[in-house]
Amino acid sequence: MVAHKTSERYCLGIESTADDFGVGISTFNGKILANISNGYIPKEGGIHPREAARHHAEVADAVLAEALAKAEVKAKDLTLIAFSQGPGLGPCLRTGATVARALASYLNIPLVGVNHSVGHIEIGKLKTGAKDPLTLYVSGGNTMVTAYASGRYRVFGETLDIALGNCLDVFAREAGLKHKKGVPLGAAVEQLAQHGKELVLLPYVVKGMDLSLSGLLTAATTALKKGNCSLEDLCYSLQEHAFSMVTEVTERALAHTEKKEVLLTGGVAANKRLQDMLKFIAGEHDATFNVVPRAFAADNGAMIAWTGILAYTHGLVTPVEESFVRVRWRVDRVDVPWVK
Ligand code: ATP
Ligand code: FE2
Repeated sequence: MVAHKTSERYCLGIESTADDFGVGISTFNGKILANISNGYIPKEGGIHPREAARHHAEVADAVLAEALAKAEVKAKDLTLIAFSQGPGLGPCLRTGATVARALASYLNIPLVGVNHSVGHIEIGKLKTGAKDPLTLYVSGGNTMVTAYASGRYRVFGETLDIALGNCLDVFAREAGLKHKKGVPLGAAVEQLAQHGKELVLLPYVVKGMDLSLSGLLTAATTALKKGNCSLEDLCYSLQEHAFSMVTEVTERALAHTEKKEVLLTGGVAANKRLQDMLKFIAGEHDATFNVVPRAFAADNGAMIAWTGILAYTHGLVTPVEESFVRVRWRVDRVDVPWVK
């Protein structure tokens, strides 16, 4: 039994931007007491937003109950409710927002809307101790290099088309790999890539500080269908090309900003080969390399709870009438007064 001080304050965070419904509970000091997730796995193909939203509505009460039980916190002892307000899939976001609004009004406590991308950055900082990192945030829906400057996380480079995680996922599905519980498609590609021997040349597209992955995906898929290369070699080659592109952009941003820390966050941060590439360039620039722990790499409620606390303790709250979801809420539109 964990004995919590009665004076302790807790925030419950709800994450529902895409295929995961997550609930995290954090103390105001940044101790994560619970981080429970339930992921929607489509029968075939990619995520269908309305199906995923239905899944979230179905599992919400069980996930909430499990998180409160794990944290050994009673709902009446919560100080704050935080939720992922965007960016993400509209129906999924709305389900999470509805749960959050209902909880906050029932408990009569404040509500705070959190930007999902900021959540990935802040949980990375909390868990690694990085203070002012240059961050590579790579997931199913996002691929960007960001760093703090003048009140916001500024974007130094990003994908011009699809996200890195999406590129890996689509290729994996084309190759007939199945999404299993606990093994995301990107991780399945990673496992096969470890057995790759020959580098197959594929398109490498970096434009200024931005990059494009759709040509790479098409070329890899075409090569797969032709059947001249092994799946292992193609997984290996896809990773080498895509990861080199994001690493090149990250390195240039690092040289420009002269930040002393590199942070890798988001679902794809779990990939060892990508970690190695970034660690190498960080070393070249005398910066430390920090990677979000695996349990906090993919979408999770803890990152929303913690970012909610940062916002709330710096005077930000979201009145219910302003709590509509923001499907395309860019990270560089969010004031982060708690940084510096
Ligand atoms: P966002 O809204 O931030 O874009 P998301 O819904 O894509 O989030 P995340 O959980 O942050 O969710 O990232 C999921 C992505 O991470 C998927 O594309 C998945 O395949 C990828 N991924 C997970 N593990 C690995 C791994 N070991 N190697 C490569 N990719 C991985
Ligand atoms: Fe995410």
